[in-house]
Amino acid sequence: TSEKLVLSERHGPVLVLTLNRPKALNALSSPLFGELNKEFDAAQRDDAVRAVVLTGGEKVFAAGADIKEMKDKTLAQSYKENYLASWAKITDFTKPVVGAVNGYALGGGCELAMMCDILLASPTATFGQPEITLGILPGAGGTQRLTHLVGKARAMDIVLTGRKVKADEAERIGLVSRIVQGDGKECVAEAVKVATLIAGYGGIAVQAAKEAVNAANNLPLNEGLRLERRLFHAMFGTADQKEGMAAFAEKRKPSFSHL
Ligand code: HXC
Repeated sequence: TSEKLVLSERHGPVLVLTLNRPKALNALSSPLFGELNKEFDAAQRDDAVRAVVLTGGEKVFAAGADIKEMKDKTLAQSYKENYLASWAKITDFTKPVVGAVNGYALGGGCELAMMCDILLASPTATFGQPEITLGILPGAGGTQRLTHLVGKARAMDIVLTGRKVKADEAERIGLVSRIVQGDGKECVAEAVKVATLIAGYGGIAVQAAKEAVNAANNLPLNEGLRLERRLFHAMFGTADQKEGMAAFAEKRKPSFSHL
């Protein structure tokens, strides 16, 4: 069918991307991920897009990589095609991504959720890395991003047991940023609100802040602090720094040009 696997909708400077394979609980097939990557590529190039909301809609985020697509794969095939390598493309996206999780975010779905910069979840959200129950292990960050987020003790518990993690626990252990009370609609609406707020700030400062926070996972503290300070220095070369501080001094709202 020609049904789109990823729906896109603009709300001013915010692009809302919705995974759209409801019959398979948004299982992340290669065609779906291909469409998702295309959307992110286009959003990267489009100056008018200042933030992205990524969601699976009001019922389910994603129940994982597509098991039916994976089940007959051989080692040779998966190695030659470097299966899952394309999943990491989203992490090269330089604009903020706000995730909104309703329902299941399992396996690759949980991994995709963890690639978001800010993650909102409704009380129905259920996370987990059930790969172990299928005879495999997580392959798109479930052992790495999860461990950075929640620590070794909890990551081991989640990855080795494959158990499900409900929204309140996910918030308590730092897997999600915030719980949004209400139904799935409210969670997505709040994500758009958060993304719209960020989209109004100076785009260069937002990009630099995202880069610096992400560096905390990859660099030793002294190098991370150096990167932060250099990025901080660089802000004095932007029009937005002049505007932001002038507006404060003049007791008015800033109007950022993202330059
Ligand atoms: C393919 C899937 C799927 C998946 C669900 N479906 N998850 N198809 N891949 N990951 C399909 C089902 O086959 C079914 O299709 C339809 O979606 C509805 O699912 P049900 O099982 O009938 O729904 P329910 O009883 O509500 O159970 C929901 C569920 C269960 C608990 C989420 O579907 C489930 O356990 N799914 C698998 C979760 C999982 O193991 N994820 C990790 C995948 S491995 P039909 O045609 O029968 O109606 C992974 C590897 C990551 O992600 C590695 C790196 C990316």
